[in-house]
Amino acid sequence: MQSACILAIETSCDETAVAIFNQGRLVASEVASQMAIHSEFGGVVPEVASRNHLSALRPILERAFFSAGLSLNDVDAVAATNGPGLATSLMLGMSMAKGLAIALKRPFIPVNHMEGHLLSPFINDPEGPRDSIGLVVSGGHTLLVRVLEVGRYQLLGRTVDDAAGEAFDKVGKLLGLPYPGGPRVAALAEQGDAGRFSLPRSMLHSGDYKFSFSGLKTAVRYLLPKHDPVPVADICASFQEAVVDVLLEKAMRAVRSSKVTALALSGGVSCNARLRERFKQATDAAGVRLLLAPPALCTDNAAMIAYVALLRLCKGDAGNLAADVHPNFNAAAWLAEAPN
Ligand code: KG4
Ligand code: ZN
Repeated sequence: MQSACILAIETSCDETAVAIFNQGRLVASEVASQMAIHSEFGGVVPEVASRNHLSALRPILERAFFSAGLSLNDVDAVAATNGPGLATSLMLGMSMAKGLAIALKRPFIPVNHMEGHLLSPFINDPEGPRDSIGLVVSGGHTLLVRVLEVGRYQLLGRTVDDAAGEAFDKVGKLLGLPYPGGPRVAALAEQGDAGRFSLPRSMLHSGDYKFSFSGLKTAVRYLLPKHDPVPVADICASFQEAVVDVLLEKAMRAVRSSKVTALALSGGVSCNARLRERFKQATDAAGVRLLLAPPALCTDNAAMIAYVALLRLCKGDAGNLAADVHPNFNAAAWLAEAPN
């Protein structure tokens, strides 16, 4: 089973992605980004996203098979993201994947997008998923999770308002930067003084694993009219440091209390160089292994979906052609029983 050829499609938001895992290796990972299209609107427009998935899917499927040197007949199972995400976008990827699974008479494996992100740092790790703490920081979600084994996760906490990536994007918008703001705020922060503005670290000492980033964004908004010209780089650096402080403190607390020896950082925000640097320093000091996916596998991609499908197949999952799309994040499904 570990050598199975998995074709995966990911269309949960504004990236159309196709990947192929074969012989236990990622042999193709194609992403057709719609970022330039949505940038014009300052955010993702669902109807525009689904129309563009429709036109992008076939060419990137062909590109993936071409770069892998494989054909449809080599495929042993077809996977697709079934949620969370934009309903109509999810439906397009799911319908294409199900159609291929039916035509090829192969199992269809639905995969949760957040599980894809969560396990993405293990793709290049020879040991694979094991008892660890996972921090998923994306545009839509901020989740702190105890990974027990593949398919058994315990949600420790998540954001009560904005996701970390959403906060980066909103601060970018406040500063007049193009969408998505995250990478731009990070680039400007490199030239800024992170100590210039003392911004709130909400819920830092709340004693739980919940996060809140909307107060931080509001604090940035109140700062702007007080300065002319606006010290953009210093604001970006101060904001970024506040986000990193909270994420790091809570993730390391979870690592200490669960006594695991690995921390897996994932999601689009885990591309952030300062976040990576601070997590590396803290995990090294604690003697904990930091697992990170390469940046191309941190943002939305289908490799992580193919990887989870492969792990499932190896555990005996027979697939489910009747699976439906689930646009909302279902926290209850992530509440595996606590370990002893
Ligand atoms: O995981 P992802 O591609 O999509 C979702 O599932 O949401 O994450 C996208 C998010 C966006 O909010 C984007 O601004 C943020 O990740 N992001 C970053 C960086 N690169 C991407 N945020 C901060 N620093 C970065 N370097
Ligand atoms: Zn994502």
